[in-house]
Amino acid sequence: MRGRPVDDTTGRSTEFDVRRFRNTLAKYASGVTVISGWHGGEPVGFTCQSFYSVSLEPPLVSFSVTTSSTTYPRLRASGHFAVNVLADDQRELSDKFARSGTDKWSGVSWSPSPRGIPVIDGTLTWLDCEIWDEHRAGDHFIVVGHVDALGPREWPDRDPLIFYDSTYCHLEVRSRTRMARSSAGSRSTCGSA
Ligand SMILES: Cc1cc2nc3c(=O)[nH]c(=O)nc-3n(C[C@H](O)[C@H](O)[C@H](O)COP(=O)(O)O)c2cc1C
Repeated sequence: MRGRPVDDTTGRSTEFDVRRFRNTLAKYASGVTVISGWHGGEPVGFTCQSFYSVSLEPPLVSFSVTTSSTTYPRLRASGHFAVNVLADDQRELSDKFARSGTDKWSGVSWSPSPRGIPVIDGTLTWLDCEIWDEHRAGDHFIVVGHVDALGPREWPDRDPLIFYDSTYCHLEVRSRTRMARSSAGSRSTCGSA
């Protein structure tokens, strides 16, 4: 189904407005992850917002990555990746892993997953995956991973990093005890990315 986009006031088809498309997508809030891997004796990774769950049985997750990524071909060659779910105090880390061609891992502390994939310290949780499938979709690849190992059972008492309208946001949802004490419920604030 590849129809031309339709103007919402006139109902006529229009040339596709890429900027408006981007701005529209930006209205969808999400968490932020770093997709990491191990290739050629080195850790690799990139910041990724497009992570989502696919299937419980079998356990599958997915993300999409631009075809111009220099990291993804290395992940593909290794056959594995880990999803690192970032916490609110990891904004700098998110920016760092979004800069292509830089030494993304300098100063970053991490430990190997049971399979040896780098898992960044201080994340909310992680998933260790084997690449299960890949589909080319326009200028991105949709990558499906089979989840083989998960982060700790005890979740850290931290807030998630949220990305909304091209900006990092703070969504305070953690610490049921603290919330019960303050009875303030959850709060959110956004700041410049
Ligand atoms: C918050 C945030 C979310 C991002 N999400 C994605 C994504 O879902 N897919 C993607 O391909 N790039 C995404 N990027 C951009 C990549 O992180 C960026 O292109 C990265 O530099 C690619 O690096 P590489 O060339 O080392 O692979 C995101 C960047 C930021 C800051």
